[in-house]
Amino acid sequence: MNQSELKKVAAEHAAEFVEDGMTLGLGTGSTVFFLVEAIARRVKAENLHIEAVATSSRTAKQASDLGITMKDINDVDHIDLCIDGADEIDKHFQGIKGGGAAHTLEKMVATTSRRNIWIVDESKLVDTLGKFPLPTEVIPFGCEQVFHRLDAEGLHPQFRLDDQGQRVTTHNKNFVIDLHMGKIEHPHLLKQFLDGQVGILEHGLFLDLVDTVVVGTQDGAKVLPAIR
Ligand code: A5P
Repeated sequence: MNQSELKKVAAEHAAEFVEDGMTLGLGTGSTVFFLVEAIARRVKAENLHIEAVATSSRTAKQASDLGITMKDINDVDHIDLCIDGADEIDKHFQGIKGGGAAHTLEKMVATTSRRNIWIVDESKLVDTLGKFPLPTEVIPFGCEQVFHRLDAEGLHPQFRLDDQGQRVTTHNKNFVIDLHMGKIEHPHLLKQFLDGQVGILEHGLFLDLVDTVVVGTQDGAKVLPAIR
C-alpha cells in the first residue's frame, strides 16, 4: 500500500470510534478527507445522529456536502471526540501539526474535546520531533520582529511561501513561520518559550493532548497504547 492507502486504512478504522449522539471535532488534511467519507457512510447506513465542528472550511464543506450536520464551535457546549491527522508523533504521543496551516483552529477544537484520536500512516511515527518543520502562526503586525527573535533563539525560522513565492496566509489572515530545527529535544520547554512570544498566535506543538493514535500499516490499522 502507498502512503495515501495507509492514511485511508487508519481513517476508516478511526471512524468506528464514532457513536450515535456524539458531537465530533473533525480535523484537516488528506487523512481526515478519508475519515469524513467514512463517517458520512456510517451516518447514512446506520442513521446516526451526530453533529460536528470542523477545523477548516475545507473539512466543513466536504462534511456538509456529504450530509453531516455541521455546527459552529461557539454553538456547541462540548465536543465528545476529535479525530485529526498529524505531521509527526513520538512514542509519548507528543506531536507536530500545522502542515496545512490549520493548527490554531485544530488546537482550539482539540483542547475543547473530551477525547482526541490521531490518524496517521506509519511514516509519521518518529523517535524525536522536529524533522518536520514546526509551524507557528504569526500576526502580520510586527511579524519581522517575531522572526528576528526566533532567529536569535537559534530556531531557524522561515516564512512559509506558496508556489508563487507569496507568504502563505491562514484562515485568520496571519502568516506561517516554520521552525526548521531538525530535532526538538525538549518539546515542553520550547512550547513554554513559544507560548510566551507576543505575536505568535499559536504553534503546532500539540503536547499531552492525544489519547489514542490509529496508525495505518502494511498489516492493517493498529491502535497504539498510550505511554505517558
Ligand atoms: C493541518 O494543518 C495539519 O495539522 C494536518 O492535520 C496534518 O498536516 C496532517 O495532514 P495529512 O493528513 O494531509 O498528512
